[in-house]
This record gives sequence, structure tokens and C-alpha cells, in this order.
Amino acid sequence: MSTNPYDSEAYVRANRFDPTHLAKVTRLLDPKAGAKVLEVGCGRGYLTKAMIEELDLDVIGTDVNPNAEGEAVSDRVRAMSAEDLDFPDDHFDHIVTVHAIEHIPPIEMAFAEMTRVLKPGGTLLAIYPAEPIQGLFAIPTSIILHGTPFKAREVHCHKLTPSKVRAIATPFGLTETHHEFNLLRSPQFVSVFQK
Ligand SMILES: C[S@@+](CC[C@H](N)C(=O)[O-])C[C@H]1O[C@@H](n2cnc3c(N)ncnc32)[C@H](O)[C@@H]1O
Repeated sequence: MSTNPYDSEAYVRANRFDPTHLAKVTRLLDPKAGAKVLEVGCGRGYLTKAMIEELDLDVIGTDVNPNAEGEAVSDRVRAMSAEDLDFPDDHFDHIVTVHAIEHIPPIEMAFAEMTRVLKPGGTLLAIYPAEPIQGLFAIPTSIILHGTPFKAREVHCHKLTPSKVRAIATPFGLTETHHEFNLLRSPQFVSVFQK
């Protein structure tokens, strides 16, 4: 029996594209055509696909769900955990992670790995929910993954703010260059770091 709570076909199939994330990649990272980009926690890879097709980037999407590759909308999606990235040091120009870091219990390990594979001078864009109560926005996911709403705080195991994310990221050598709060669609924070 799998101990990976994200080993769910139903969960990856429920994943949807949000074009506002592509707009944030353009506005906040301003990536050059051909730049190497890693997306961490990409689900079916909608944003990975859009970054390839609309921004002409060289993107790999990764997700801990072993069903992600099979259900992916792009052939550039790989099943891989954020805490153990199978890429060389200093490899990517940019890293993008959208509504994923709040799911990762060893979030420091994920930041250590993302920093390791980012080139010096490279940038990391993290988008994560602005929850007034931890787990509030994870109730549907808790039902899909666990059959109950009451594990929503296990799903969103962190209630993050830009200052908390900065405190996690800074010791690994990342410097925050921007953060913002967005209200519409769902309330969320955005942080940008440079290595
Ligand atoms: C809310 S979904 C977001 C998916 C996609 N980024 C999006 O915005 O539509 C969270 C994703 O994080 C993935 N995830 C959870 N823990 C992870 C980990 N440790 N490493 C990589 N991905 C993880 C889940 O499998 C899921 O696909």
C-alpha cells in the first residue's frame, strides 16, 4: 500500500488550468525564450504546457503524484517529489511552483532542493494560498484524497505567509525580490526569490 497521500488518479484528473498563473510567470519572471524552467507540483502540467507553447520555454514539470505522467497534458511531466529532485546543481534559470509548497511536510527540504537546482542569479516564483484558517481551501482535496473534509489541515500542512516563506527560503541562499497578495479567484500570496 502506498504511503504517498497524493497517489490518486481522481486528484490529478480534478486539476484545472488557471491562465492567471501564466500571466504571473510573464510579469514577474520575464523569462527569455529557451530558458530552462522547472515547475514543481505541476499536477497534469497545464502551466508546464502553456509555458512551453506560449512562452517558448524549455520546461520540465514535476509532481509527486505517480499518476501525473500518465494523466498529463504534456509529455514534459515527470513523477518526482520536490524533496528529491533528480536534476544537477545550478541547472534551471527559473523555478515555478503553484499551490504546491503548502502541501509538503518537509517544506525546508523542498526549498533546499529547489535552490540547489536553480542557477546562481536564477529566480523562483512561488504562489500559495492566503488562508484565513489553515486548511480552509483544502476541504475539496481532503474529500478527494481521504474521503473526509477533516484532513484538510493534513493536506495544507502549512499556513503560509510571505514572511514565513521568506524565513524558510533565506537560509538556503534565496533573497526575496517581490511579494504580493491577490484576492480574486482565490486569495493567494506570491513570492519571488533570487539565488
Ligand atoms: C493544489 S495542486 C496544484 C497543481 C498545479 N500546480 C495547479 O496549480 O493546478 C497541488 C499539487 O502538488 C503536488 N504535490 C504535493 N506534494 C508534493 C511534493 N512533495 N512534491 C511534488 N509535488 C507535490 C500534488 O500532487 C498536486 O498535484
